[in-house]
Formats: sequence, structure tokens, C-alpha cells
Amino acid sequence: MAQLWGGRFTKETDQLVYDFNASILFDRRLYRQDIEGSMAHVKMLAKQGILTEEECNSIQQGLQGILRDVENGTLEITSKYEDIHSFVEANLIERIGDTGKKLHTGRSRNDQVALDMRLYIRDEVKRTDGLLLGLLKVLQRIMEENVDTFMPGFTHLQKAQPVTLAHHVGAYFEMFKRDRSRLHDIYHRMNYCPLGAGALAGTTYPLDREYTAELLGFAGPTMNSMDSVSDRDYVIEYLSALATIMMHLSRFSEEIIIWNSNEYRFVELDDAYSTGSSIMPQKKNPDIAELVRGKTGRVYGALMGLLTTMKGLPLAYNKDMQEDKEGVFDAIDTVTSCITLFTGMADTMKFNKAVMESSAKNGFTNATDVADYLVNHGVPFRDAHSISGRLVLRCIAQDKALDDLTLEEFREESAVFEPDIYEAISMKTCVEKRLTLGAPGQTVMREIIKRNRDYLDEAER
Ligand code: ARG
Repeated sequence: MAQLWGGRFTKETDQLVYDFNASILFDRRLYRQDIEGSMAHVKMLAKQGILTEEECNSIQQGLQGILRDVENGTLEITSKYEDIHSFVEANLIERIGDTGKKLHTGRSRNDQVALDMRLYIRDEVKRTDGLLLGLLKVLQRIMEENVDTFMPGFTHLQKAQPVTLAHHVGAYFEMFKRDRSRLHDIYHRMNYCPLGAGALAGTTYPLDREYTAELLGFAGPTMNSMDSVSDRDYVIEYLSALATIMMHLSRFSEEIIIWNSNEYRFVELDDAYSTGSSIMPQKKNPDIAELVRGKTGRVYGALMGLLTTMKGLPLAYNKDMQEDKEGVFDAIDTVTSCITLFTGMADTMKFNKAVMESSAKNGFTNATDVADYLVNHGVPFRDAHSISGRLVLRCIAQDKALDDLTLEEFREESAVFEPDIYEAISMKTCVEKRLTLGAPGQTVMREIIKRNRDYLDEAER
């Protein structure tokens, strides 16, 4: 296969070298961005009088034809070409003849690939954001429906204090909200156009970089041509955001796996989102949650991989940077399917409210409230803590909950207890009394849900 750069060479490239060097098998997914970038480039060349209007039109028509034919499947992107840039240019020349050879005026593949990647990642940042929004809507629905679904809150995976399902899910709402805000930051930081940086030192043609940037929807052109062709920070930042999203999905998955276990039975996964065992007929496994948890590793791997690839590179472009693609493409596909599947799973999951509530009741999650009751009656907290602890010990010996102790039993530990202790440590009171902003008490929870609603409405606009 003739190379774009064949002129200086007298010998054919060794086949193994050709294959090792080629990127077409993965960078073909950039075809749309490559063509879009070229269209803007020639339009600018014509405006600057570097190409004639006629040449520009002919190139643009040729490029449009290539785009159309790739999308309708009549033009296949094969490994006959070294990379997507060679594919587009070779096809253009084949279609419109010598004028096609002018496309690459004032451009290098270095700024071209930098542009293609930016356009691609920019689109994907938006797509990931949209998927997260879909997930947030499901979480919001679960929250709205469960402000009075009591469940144990845990620390060290030991029952700690009672919360509600709305409150627990609300924690994930915050995480995914932060993930969206990270994506927005990345978008704004990366939204500058590297085209016109040339190979590394700009060009001698009078390019209008502001104009190309504007045509492609960027906030402006990048400010240093060497940085422009060697910057992959935005890919790293995006991978880091994806890794964090996966970390959040993985933690949530882990909880769902625990909640779905025979011991907990807090949730029941929908049949459509679980799988069976080939040998054990009774099994209904949380494979989707497990796979989301499992796939987190490869997204972290992509981030580590690219950080490591970049760490020793001198300025400006080095072929190492071709390695920016496969990892991020795989991470994008992985995260896209994980958010989509997780959203469906969460949306169809059924909560066993009665089981959750009885679990909260039977784990002494109101022991702190017993202590608080004493404190409110003048007992110093340290003493109150120890009285409540002794009551817990009694309950463990008799295998019952604090609510089941008789008033006499309460009084044997402290004379302060009155009949209103039962009301004071009921699950409902325990949760309802927690009214600091961000706590599970219904009044504040409804306030948070309202804020979430405003946030979602705003995002929809
Ligand atoms: N396939 C290359 C990449 O992905 C395109 C840029 C090639 N530039 C070069 N000077 N060889 O990075």
C-alpha cells in the first residue's frame, strides 16, 4: 500500500512493521470527526484565499460523499489504509482527483489527530453526562417513593443508626451529581481547537485559527502549537472522571449484591436483570451488579495506562501517543454499557420494605437514641452511653430489641426512664428527629428531594 509519506522512501515497509504501526483498526471510529475537521479546514483555507471557492466546494462534496457512503455501509474502512486520516484522504483523491491533494495544505496529521480526538471526546463527555442524568432520574424516583422506608444505616457494615432508603439512595444522587459536574469542568477546559498547530510549530500559511475553532464549536484556538499536538490531558481527565463514575457504580453494585443476598433480602432484582445457575435451580444471581463491579478494574487500567504512556514523552508529538485511543475507547464502551445496565437494574429493582424496617429494629440502631433520651433528662453523655450499652447487653442475652424491654428493666439501669421512652426510641421518632440539613428526617429529606427536582429540571433545559 502506498503511504502518504512514501516520497522519501525507496523500499516498501515490512508487512509486520506496517501492521504494528497502523491504527486504522481502532481509529476508524473517528471517521466522522476526521471528515468534520477537514470540512472546516478547507472552508477556512478558502476564506483565506489559500484554496479557491471551487476547490473548496469540490473537496467538501467529496468529503460529504465519503461520510455518506461510510454511514450507509457502501464504503468500508479497511486495514488497507494506515489510519483514518490516510483513508479519508486517499478516498477523496480517488473521487475528485488532484484537487483532493490540496486538502492537507497547512495541516499535519499531528494537529489533525489532536483535533479528531478532541471532537470525539467532547461528544462522549456529553453522552456520558446524558446517561448519568438518566440514572439520576431513577434515583430521584426511588427517593420520592421511600422517605418513610426505614432501614439500618451501617458503619463497618455493622448496623449503626436507622436511616431511610431515600436517604441512602440520596448519597448516590450526590455522587453522580458530582460526576456530572466533573464532566462539565472537563468540557469547558478542553473546548479549544488545536487545528493550525501543524506538525508542532504552526505553519507559514496565513491560517485563521479563530475561524476554524468557531466553525467547529470551540471556545477558541489553543495557545501553543507544541502543546496543542502533544496535549492529552483531556483524555486523562475524562478517563479519571470515568474511573470515578465506575467507582461509584461499583460501590452501589456491591451494596445491591449484599442487599440481594439470602441473608439480607432487602431487594429483589427483576428477573430481566438477573441470571440463573446451570446446576443450582434455586439461584437468582446479581450478575449485572457483579459485572459492573468487575469492569471497574479495566477502566482504572485505561487511566493508569495512559498516564504511564504520557509520563516520559518529550515534546512534541511522539508515536507513543497513538496509544491514547484503544484504552479510552474501551473505557467509553464499558462505562456506557455499565451506566445503561445499572440504570435499568435500579429502575426495576423491588425493595422489601418490611424486611428493611425489621432489620433496622433488630440491630439496636436506636441505642444512640436511648442515650440521647437520658442526656435530655440531665444524664451526662458518657454515663448515658454506658447505661444504653448495658441495656443492649441485656437484650442480647434475652434475644430481643430495646423496644421490647419492660419499663422495670429500663429502670433497673436508670431511674430516669419514664413511659415516654418507647415513643422516644421508636424507629419513626429516631429518624424523624434527625432534622439537620442532609439527615434522613422526613421534613429535611423532602427539602433535599425538592432541590434535586430543581436540579433535574435545570439539567433538562
Ligand atoms: N495514527 C496517529 C495517531 O493516532 C496519527 C498521527 C500520526 N502522526 C505521525 N506523525 N505519524 O497518533
